[in-house]
Amino acid sequence: MQVGLLGHGVVGSGVRRIIDDMNAKKNACLCIKRILVKDENEMVEDRMTRNIDDIILDQDIQLVVECMGGKEPAHTFVERALESGKHVVTSNKKMLASYGDELFELARKNGVKLLYEASVGGGIPWMAELRRIRRIDDIECFEGIFNGTTNYILSRMDAEGCEFDEMLVQAQSLGYAERDPSDDIDGYDVAYKTALSCLAAFDCYVDPQEIPVWGIRNITKKDMEYANEHGFSIKLLGKGEKKDGILQCSVMPCFVPRGGTFASVPLNYNAISSVSETLGKAVFTGQGAGSLPTAHAVVQDMLDIATGADIAEHSITACSVDESTEVTCYIRNCSIPVQYVSEKVDADTVITVPLSYAKLKELTDNTRGVMVIEVKK
Ligand SMILES: NC(=O)c1ccc[n+]([C@@H]2O[C@H](COP(=O)([O-])OP(=O)(O)OC[C@H]3O[C@@H](n4cnc5c(N)ncnc54)[C@H](OP(=O)(O)O)[C@@H]3O)[C@@H](O)[C@H]2O)c1
Repeated sequence: MQVGLLGHGVVGSGVRRIIDDMNAKKNACLCIKRILVKDENEMVEDRMTRNIDDIILDQDIQLVVECMGGKEPAHTFVERALESGKHVVTSNKKMLASYGDELFELARKNGVKLLYEASVGGGIPWMAELRRIRRIDDIECFEGIFNGTTNYILSRMDAEGCEFDEMLVQAQSLGYAERDPSDDIDGYDVAYKTALSCLAAFDCYVDPQEIPVWGIRNITKKDMEYANEHGFSIKLLGKGEKKDGILQCSVMPCFVPRGGTFASVPLNYNAISSVSETLGKAVFTGQGAGSLPTAHAVVQDMLDIATGADIAEHSITACSVDESTEVTCYIRNCSIPVQYVSEKVDADTVITVPLSYAKLKELTDNTRGVMVIEVKK
């Protein structure tokens, strides 16, 4: 199957390398015919082009692989590829979480596949395992560490007792955090991945902007010390659960017990767990990012398409998030009315009574410097 690759950065160049290496060893069922790049100075081989029409209008190209990132023009290019009857594989969670409902419908109408393994959990085969579990079970819930940048910062703060800003600078210097880290540290990256996991686990399309999100921007050494004293680590978790037709999901820093599933997940690794009836709890862990691990996941999707793997089609329903679920939280730097406080930790920190996500948002949104951490029941 001939492939058009969009983007030749960290992930795209990894995809090109894996496929070219496979072809060098033996005649693989995939071959990259054209590579879309942005700048003239990236046109280093004959396959490269700066014109998307060289891929979309080429009848020999049956599969388009999008590794450009960002919403536009990635969304328009994917839309055009699907409309032209080409299969699409993407690693782009932001684009797919934002336009998933429309793009999956377009893929269905045109009888082509739209796969997105690498967009959640990088190299971890999370989507593939969800597909396998769902051949037998319904997924009851999932939760996980979906973001390597924040896990790196939290792990190092925990191990070394340092402050957030210091660890962010180190994460940036190692290439684990972007120059503008807002999507990661404010939890939006995990919201995109949580939305896509809801799609794969429950066939629910949820607008990532509807997911209640709290990030780790304001975490301090003091919060880590509180966690340590009480036998916990702090991890940023994305969660989803569907029960009796009601969808609950959230992104929130949580106190997790030391010795539990998530506390020992190190540095930039990811770990995601699911619960289903006959399999019970299953945990998937590995490299959530990086050129070759992520490209590996992209190429697995490409091989599934090229070899005609039996990938079940599910009909997707737009769902809204139920905000009535109650959580107990540790809140620092926010004035919380006394009726919502169950315990005063110190002058600027309280533990709340169980509060709905809606109430919690009302109390904490727009409060500068606030830190919210879920206390697991
Ligand atoms: N990096 C990871 O470990 C990882 C893991 C999982 C998922 N992902 C996802 O994979 C996607 C790609 O990430 P990445 O890390 O590979 O990003 P990247 O290194 O910035 O690569 C993206 C490439 O696409 C190019 N590009 C952007 N707009 C283009 C256009 N209009 N035409 C042609 N080329 C264009 C960029 O060129 P310029 O640099 O010139 O703009 C860049 O070379 C993102 O959606 C990301 O979220 C990444």
